[in-house]
Amino acid sequence: MNTLLVGAQWGDEGKGKIVDVLTEQHHAVFRSQGGNNAGHTVHIGGKKYVLHLMPSGILRPRCQCLIGHGTVIDPLALVEEIKGLHAQGIKTRGRLFISDRAHVVMPYHRVLDQGREAAAKGKKIGTTGRGIGPAYNDKASRIGLRVGDLLSADKLTGSVRDRVKEINALARQHGWPTVSAAQITKDYLAAGKFLAPYVTDTALKVNELAARGRKILFEGAQGTLLDIDCGTYPYVTSSNTTSAGLCTGSGLAPNRVGKIVGALKAYTSRVGEGPFPTESPDLADLLHALGREFGATTGRARRCGWLDGVLIKYAVTVNGIDEFAITNLDGLDTLPVINIAVAYQLDGKTLTAPPAAIEDLYRCQPVYQSFKGWQADTTAVRSFAKLPRRAQAYLRAVEKITGAKINLISVGPGREQTFGS
Ligand code: GDP
Ligand code: IMO
Ligand code: MG
Repeated sequence: MNTLLVGAQWGDEGKGKIVDVLTEQHHAVFRSQGGNNAGHTVHIGGKKYVLHLMPSGILRPRCQCLIGHGTVIDPLALVEEIKGLHAQGIKTRGRLFISDRAHVVMPYHRVLDQGREAAAKGKKIGTTGRGIGPAYNDKASRIGLRVGDLLSADKLTGSVRDRVKEINALARQHGWPTVSAAQITKDYLAAGKFLAPYVTDTALKVNELAARGRKILFEGAQGTLLDIDCGTYPYVTSSNTTSAGLCTGSGLAPNRVGKIVGALKAYTSRVGEGPFPTESPDLADLLHALGREFGATTGRARRCGWLDGVLIKYAVTVNGIDEFAITNLDGLDTLPVINIAVAYQLDGKTLTAPPAAIEDLYRCQPVYQSFKGWQADTTAVRSFAKLPRRAQAYLRAVEKITGAKINLISVGPGREQTFGS
């Protein structure tokens, strides 16, 4: 059975850790959208790995890994990531497959991303600055370059020259850094040469694997509320992060999907700007003091808050989440009271689904249900039955409020700190 794993919040739900755990029951892991804006952390035997474009399955030696046409690939960053894995004794040849159709993030995409953010002042999105939005923009405008183009000196040289001319003119107007077409062409051809043995049609490959009964795990990046359509637009990323997006981004035929799992953090975090109705600076202070909730890609302190039943129910609906893997339950271990938003109040009305207009979402007041905290260390617990009663009650309440079952519980970053419910 093929599994789609999606983030149910604003990203950083612990998808990397859950992928690592679930990979034991899968033959392949597929990354099908986003780029190196993602940062997926996996702890194995006391060692920490942070993966950006590479599927987290790369850390399991027998697992095949695919990066699909729905991603945007910074080839220089990907080469560095592959070399970093090689330096740690992790092999990639014969196990890693990269789509020839995935769009390429160019240095000028980063110039545009960072330049626009710097100029936006009060309207910043708080992007990762990796050029993701401008790369998807070029794709949608049909002027992008794809991984297959890195293998053709003629095509790359001409396209880069034309686009650099255009972007440097804009950069000069705005006082942004300019880039060199010759340098980009040289660097990207070299990266293309390095990546060539991995490049293939991953859409055909994934459907062949599925037809042969190989079980594939689709590793979502970002989260539902960062989805360009379903998320808190415009404070979103530029891809479809939801379950359907994993199908279009990989080419997996939708009738081959088995199960849809939502990665859910036991509280909420968000990095970047945008509305966050259940935000709690006190909870953020507590987690930051414990050294937790700093971004895996940018190092930025993440905003933190209570679980938001309104948004999670929305995520359950639009993804078709069959079950949750809940992470970071231990993050709540010390709290005397824990809240979950069950509705919003807006202009005297009670809402049970998020409003479309961002201005309205900013004004929503959460209606909380409060729970007594368990105030006990759960990090050594290895079964639902051994969890404190109040932690059990909290998890049951999450199921009731969101309408989806919790199947996996994580109480620490390690592989072993995980159990079924
Ligand atoms: P991702 O982007 O969804 O893969 O999540 P990140 O890796 O960006 O952030 C999740 C963070 O939580 C990482 O530092 C993980 O190591 C950590 N983590 C995951 N599950 C747990 C858990 O159950 N408890 C604790 N303490 N940390 C966890
Ligand atoms: P993982 O896969 C959390 C956020 C950025 C910003 C917005 C747009 O680790 O969960 P972008 O650079 O994509 O144009 O930024 O999206 N963002 C993430 N937040 N986790 C991520 O990935 C994110 N990827 C992008 O902070 O608010
Ligand atoms: Mg992350």
